Amino acid sequence: MLDLINVSYDTQIPNNVGLSQDKKVLKALEKWHPGYINWWNDLIPDDFQKSLVYLRTAVSVDPKGWAKFDYVKMPEYRWGILLAPEVEDRRIPFGEHAGEKAWQEIPGEYRSMLRRLVVIQGDTEPASVEQQRFLGLTAPSLYDLRNLFQVNVEEGRHLWAMVYLLQKYFGRDGREEADDLLRRNSGSEEAPRMLGAFNEETPDWLSFFMFTYFTDRDGRMQLESLAQSGFDPLSRTCRFMLTEEAHHMFVGETGVGRVIQATVDAMQKAGITDPYDINKIRDLGVIDLPTMQKKLNLHYTLSLDLFGGEVSTNAANAFNAGIKGRFQELKIDDDHKLHGATYPVSQVVNGVIQKVDAPALTAVNMRLRDDYVKDAAGGVGRWNRALKKAGVEFQFEMPHEAFNRQIGAFAGVPADPSGEIISQEAWDAKRNEWLPTKEDGAFIQSLMQPCYEPGQYASWISAPKVGIDNKPGDFEYVQLHMA
Ligand SMILES: [Fe+2]
Ligand SMILES: [Fe+2]
Repeated sequence: MLDLINVSYDTQIPNNVGLSQDKKVLKALEKWHPGYINWWNDLIPDDFQKSLVYLRTAVSVDPKGWAKFDYVKMPEYRWGILLAPEVEDRRIPFGEHAGEKAWQEIPGEYRSMLRRLVVIQGDTEPASVEQQRFLGLTAPSLYDLRNLFQVNVEEGRHLWAMVYLLQKYFGRDGREEADDLLRRNSGSEEAPRMLGAFNEETPDWLSFFMFTYFTDRDGRMQLESLAQSGFDPLSRTCRFMLTEEAHHMFVGETGVGRVIQATVDAMQKAGITDPYDINKIRDLGVIDLPTMQKKLNLHYTLSLDLFGGEVSTNAANAFNAGIKGRFQELKIDDDHKLHGATYPVSQVVNGVIQKVDAPALTAVNMRLRDDYVKDAAGGVGRWNRALKKAGVEFQFEMPHEAFNRQIGAFAGVPADPSGEIISQEAWDAKRNEWLPTKEDGAFIQSLMQPCYEPGQYASWISAPKVGIDNKPGDFEYVQLHMA
C-alpha cells in the first residue's frame, strides 16, 4: 500500500504520489529535472549556491508535522511533489457538476481550460524567484537572507507541483508547456512571464516585503480557489501549496512591520514627531512612512490587476465547469451554481464609480478580489495599530480599487487614491505624491547594504520578535560561502 502522507525519498524526486511505480511520469520529470537545475544555477548568485542555508523541507503532508529544518546547499534542496491527503468520497463542490464525484482524471471537455489555469499558476512561481534573484546581495540580515531563500526554494517547488500536473495529466502538450515554463523569463522582451506584475522588478527589500505581502497574497487567493477544484489532483496540490504559502505572507507582513518599527524607533530617538519631515528622517538611515505608503500603493494596485476583469466569461466558464471555485466555497451558504444570482461589481457610469449588479457567475473574479481586499486589510490594520501604539500620527491606507489600474473597469481611468475621478493632467501632476519616484527608489537603494553578521540588522529594519524554528537571536541562519 502506498504511503500518501509521508514523503518518499526513494527516487531522485521526493514525492507522495507513488512516483517510483509511475515510470512514465517519473521519466518525464527526470528529463525535465536538469533544465530546472540549470535554471536555478544560472539564476541565484554563485556564492549563495555554495552557502549552507537553514531551510525547512517537507517530509510529510500531515498538517501537524510536515517540515524539518536543517542546513542545506540550495542546489541540493530536495524539491518534491507533494499533494495533500485525499479526502474520502470528495464531491465537486460547485458548478453544473456540483455533488458529482470529484474527477481523478481530466474530463476531456475541460482539458484546455484546465491546462491554461495550471500553466498560468505555474508561470508565476519561477517568475517571482527571477524577480528576487539579486536581493541576497543586499540582505539586511542572515535571518532575512534565509527567509528569502526559503520563499525562493518553495516557489521553485510550486513550479514542480504544476509541472507534475502537466506531465501526468496532459501528455505531450503538457510536456511542452513544462519546458516553456523554464523558457519564459521575468522581464524578458522575447519571452516574458504571462502576467504583468511578474515582469516588474523587485529592486530592493522593501519591494520584496510588499511583494510577499500583496502579490503572494493574490497567489494565495488563486490557490484557494483552485483548491476547490473538482479536478481532485489540482485541488490536493493547491491545498499543500497553501501550507507553504502561509510563511510567505508572514515574511511580507513582519517584514514591512519591522521596517515601520525601525523608522518609528529612529524618529523617536531623534525627537522627530512629524512623519512628513522626510529629509530629516531619511538622514537617520531609515525609510520614511510616506514613501512606504507609495510603495504600498504600487504593489497593492499591481496585485489587484492580477485578478483580471471584474466581469469575465472565462471565469464564469471555469466556475460552471467545476474547475475554479470561490474563496472558501464550502462555507458559502448558497446553491453553489449561481443560477440567477447577482453580485455587485464596480463600474464607471457617466464618469462616476458605481456598484452595479452583475450576474454572480460572471463576477467570480470580482468576488475573489473583494475577499483578497478584506484579507489584505488585516495586516495593514496591524501596522496601523503599531503606529498608534507608538504615538506616531500616521496611518497607512489601501488606495481605492480604481486607483492606478491597468486591467478591468478602471484601466486608464485617472482616479485618485480616494476613488475620485480627476483629469489626466491633475493625475499626472500628483503622480509623484502617490507612487514611488526614481528619487525614492534611489534613496531606498542607497540603504541596501548587506548585513551578514549573525544577530545584526541593517539600520532600516528592526530585529524580528522570534527566530525561525525558535532559534536564538544570534543564530547563523546562513553559513555564507565567500569566494
Ligand atoms: Fe507559490
Ligand atoms: Fe509564495
